[in-house]
Amino acid sequence: MPSPKIASPPIASPKGFYFEVKAGRRYLWCACGRSAKQPFCDGSHAGTEFLPVAFEAEKDEDVIFCGCKHTATRPFCDGAHNNLPGYKSEDDPGSPANRAIVEVAHGAEAEVALDGACYVFSTRRARLVRCGAMAWCPIITLSRGAQFQSQFYAEIFAGASPVTSPVIGPVIGPVIGANGSHTVLFVAEGEGEVEISGRRFAFLPRTGFYVKPDEAFRVSNTGAGRVKLFISNGPPREDLAFLETMPGNFDARWPERAAPIDPSQRTAMAERHFQILVDRAHGSTEMTQFIGNIPRSKAAPHKHLYEESLIFLNGEGAVWTETTKTTVGAGDVLFLPRKLTHSVQCTVEGGFDVVGVIYPGANPSINY
Ligand code: FES
Repeated sequence: MPSPKIASPPIASPKGFYFEVKAGRRYLWCACGRSAKQPFCDGSHAGTEFLPVAFEAEKDEDVIFCGCKHTATRPFCDGAHNNLPGYKSEDDPGSPANRAIVEVAHGAEAEVALDGACYVFSTRRARLVRCGAMAWCPIITLSRGAQFQSQFYAEIFAGASPVTSPVIGPVIGPVIGANGSHTVLFVAEGEGEVEISGRRFAFLPRTGFYVKPDEAFRVSNTGAGRVKLFISNGPPREDLAFLETMPGNFDARWPERAAPIDPSQRTAMAERHFQILVDRAHGSTEMTQFIGNIPRSKAAPHKHLYEESLIFLNGEGAVWTETTKTTVGAGDVLFLPRKLTHSVQCTVEGGFDVVGVIYPGANPSINY
């Protein structure tokens, strides 16, 4: 008797399958969800409406084949599994295995080392170096173990109070070159203006910006408090590149550079949600910035193929790796190398608001 037709494939696995494909080899991905040789076809689709999907690798590379069979980017994972029934998005922080994980305490230094090259950096404990109206420090660099992205933290001082001084007007930070890297900014606090190679954009707190690799930028503070800013580069830089003058080479083919928060642009991801701020729509071909919310919970441990930095804007909780964990809060940054098992736990009402930068990658919901 022929097998009954099925409208939607069964979920073979609630997560994607990590695989190292080889250049020139052809792979036949199971689309029907019935194969016993996941993620590949074993002929079990016979009698169903599904056919396997062929993929020929152009180069040796790591990929995540879809295991849930509901991806829109067949044969690869697009994160659809996060919103399917059966996906275990939460983990029990009190389980026997989790109780055995060692807590690493914060010391006087800004950095707390976790498994592998993973660490948490506290901007509250960082020593900032002054450069004109700006003070800054490195967070993620090549020499700290990054392969794909760097990140710097900067504060632009506020103007003197008109009560104590007649000086009123914007305080202007130094000109910084993108220096050949995609550069993504996130203004966490403050009000002012970002000038990108001669083009000016006003901002309110919580705005992202994109600067193309051959452009430069500077940030002005027009508000009463400090501007607090994160500067990400990919490929990574060891230092900020200060310039004498602002070039006038704004690339007008990409006029939209500011990325404000827009709740209507949110994507649901299990109990979480995120909004892409900067991506290809702004001209950023390799690097993606998003803002998201992590509710009070501990996420199930998972890995990514991209390198990620996660800025915690508020809230309290912990970051877990396979054998270590540490506390995190507002102003901390988590550096996550590729393929490192991790999870984030928020312990307070309202959750964590976080800003992530991934490189290389365009979709922060892809994991395995
Ligand atoms: S496993 Fe199917 S979308 Fe991720």
